[in-house]
Amino acid sequence: MANGKLLRQLIRSGLQGDIDNFRAASEAVIAEERDKKHHLLANDLEKLLYGTQLNQTLPLNHLKLASSLPASKDSGLSLLELRPVVRESQDIVLSDASQSILDEILLEHNRADILRSYGLRPAQKLIFFGPPGCGKTMAAEVLANSLSMPLLMVRLDSVISSFLGETAANLRKVFDYVAEFPCVVLFDEFDALAKDRGDSADHGELKRSVNAVLQMIDSYRGDSILIATTNYESLLDKAVWRRFDEAVPFDMPNLEQIKRLLSIKLSGVRRQFDPTDAKVASLFKGMSHADIERVLRRAIKDMILSGKEFLEKQHLDTSLAREHRAHL
Ligand SMILES: Nc1ncnc2c1ncn2[C@@H]1O[C@H](COP(=O)(O)OP(=O)(O)OP(=O)(O)O)[C@@H](O)[C@H]1O
Ligand SMILES: [Mg+2]
Repeated sequence: MANGKLLRQLIRSGLQGDIDNFRAASEAVIAEERDKKHHLLANDLEKLLYGTQLNQTLPLNHLKLASSLPASKDSGLSLLELRPVVRESQDIVLSDASQSILDEILLEHNRADILRSYGLRPAQKLIFFGPPGCGKTMAAEVLANSLSMPLLMVRLDSVISSFLGETAANLRKVFDYVAEFPCVVLFDEFDALAKDRGDSADHGELKRSVNAVLQMIDSYRGDSILIATTNYESLLDKAVWRRFDEAVPFDMPNLEQIKRLLSIKLSGVRRQFDPTDAKVASLFKGMSHADIERVLRRAIKDMILSGKEFLEKQHLDTSLAREHRAHL
């Protein structure tokens, strides 16, 4: 709880309508709570003070984050990238199983204080796995949004350096940086580097780099949430899975989920069909969320450019035919 002097200043300035003093006192209270590591409370207070729209622009501390991101010594490239956090939980369509794991993770963070009083920590090291375009990266954004935390993506291509010792130094910089401020840290497709260059001569070096990332994740004890995503779960061995608190699967959508996805993505579009019609939804069977989104985008463009006021099933058919041709 903030000190007496601050609370008096806060109440007095509030009663007197002294906006400048009220703001200064509020900011001091927030800083004090943050120092005490009461981050959820500090984030909530900040939201109250500045309004929720600041999530889309950048709150003060996010701005501070963005201006001081660490860079690699040898290449000068930034090691972390601040990603926009806009989409919310109602924008993502997941299976009940994945959704309930994410809900539990959220609950653990929202009730972190009580867990800590029992000597427990909320789940902090997560691995999201599954085929491309099913929402792994998006879910990291949604989680960051739900927890009012900034989302920092690790630029693995900048982290992994050909100079001896530089990769370890870069990783150290990344982890030191995120230790200072709680955020959601995304190691997106962290194994892709090893896979892409799997048969090249420096395979051993890359494998060591991926292992170094995993070891850092393993030994991390700060307040940030670390999320690794992968498409190639079959390549990861048991030792890798054990390092994470939770593994969340992301699957291709079933018919029910396709209906929900169509309803969300077409909510603002005037149309001549019902997106929850099983016949419409089944047109998209076997496609990922991202593929479905692309087909819809193309259909909507087609509608606009052909001067139609309503989206018709015909637009979907044409766009789907194009999608299938592209995959032949
Ligand atoms: N489950 C979902 N619900 C709603 N929209 C989704 C979902 N999955 C993907 N999308 C849409 O597709 C876009 C791309 O998906 P995203 O990048 O999250 O997939 P991914 O699983 O991370 O794929 P990759 O393995 O290729 O990185 C998202 O930004 C979103 O617009
Ligand atoms: Mg992704």
